[in-house]
Amino acid sequence: MSTGELIIDDLRAGIPGQEILRGVSLTVRSGEVHAVMGPNGSGKSTLAHVLMGRPGYEVLGGSVSLDGIDLLSLPTWQRARAGLFLGMQHPIEVPGVSLVASLSAARAPAAPVGPGAGAERPDIGARMEEEADRIGFDRKMLRRALNVDLSGGERKRNETLQLGVLRPRFAVLDEIDSGLDVDALEAVARRVEAATTEWGMGVLAITHFHRLLDVLHPDVVHVLSAGKVVATGGDELAEIVDRTGYAAYR
Ligand SMILES: Nc1ncnc2c1ncn2[C@@H]1O[C@H](COP(=O)(O)OP(=O)(O)OP(=O)(O)O)[C@@H](O)[C@H]1O
Ligand SMILES: [Mg+2]
Repeated sequence: MSTGELIIDDLRAGIPGQEILRGVSLTVRSGEVHAVMGPNGSGKSTLAHVLMGRPGYEVLGGSVSLDGIDLLSLPTWQRARAGLFLGMQHPIEVPGVSLVASLSAARAPAAPVGPGAGAERPDIGARMEEEADRIGFDRKMLRRALNVDLSGGERKRNETLQLGVLRPRFAVLDEIDSGLDVDALEAVARRVEAATTEWGMGVLAITHFHRLLDVLHPDVVHVLSAGKVVATGGDELAEIVDRTGYAAYR
């Protein structure tokens, strides 16, 4: 079980000529689930991309550290090696590269491995099949090119499977619930929640819907509006958003 913190402190970032994140601060500890809600265009995915170091975004100020490591100075692959995982809102298609190949590369000797993955290295294929079964993901998908022609819900299960195999210290999940049918939502949420106790994974779950939080049980809920965290609280915040929308936070 790892202990640690993902600390986002006064993060300001955007694209050239436009500041999108205007001072975001929040801290996720190992084993905690934090939800981030917020209107369309409030900067939730930008936060996810900036944390992972996606090209095209620039950091204008603030800091991000993971277990004391300054993430913002690292290229994306080293952020992953430090233990950060991103489940993308719109997972990209990678023709010609299978999920097996991509995860084998990610877990190659010099690659990122989460806590608990260090000592023994179970066969990657077996591990993937186990994770696929856990979330009701057809094993046939494992041999297919990454996300190519996968349905929306299959892509999200694909992201969840990667998380289960890579065992990151912290996972940023950008609308992991979008496109999932009710059974898949249950299975995915259960898998993510189990990871918080299995190896102490911390979660930053971006979502629009309370139904994810019903199954994921967040410790903390944040509301992001116009690039700032404007409210932090418990599950009651998500209920307020569900009932009355974001009017109170704009
Ligand atoms: N690479 C980019 N180029 C141009 N504009 C961008 C880029 N990335 C983000 N933006 C703009 O920044 C704002 C925030 O976008 P972002 O995707 O972070 O919102 P979001 O909170 O994730 O919204 P949603 O709930 O719809 O997913 C939007 O107005 C978006 O158009
Ligand atoms: Mg988004």
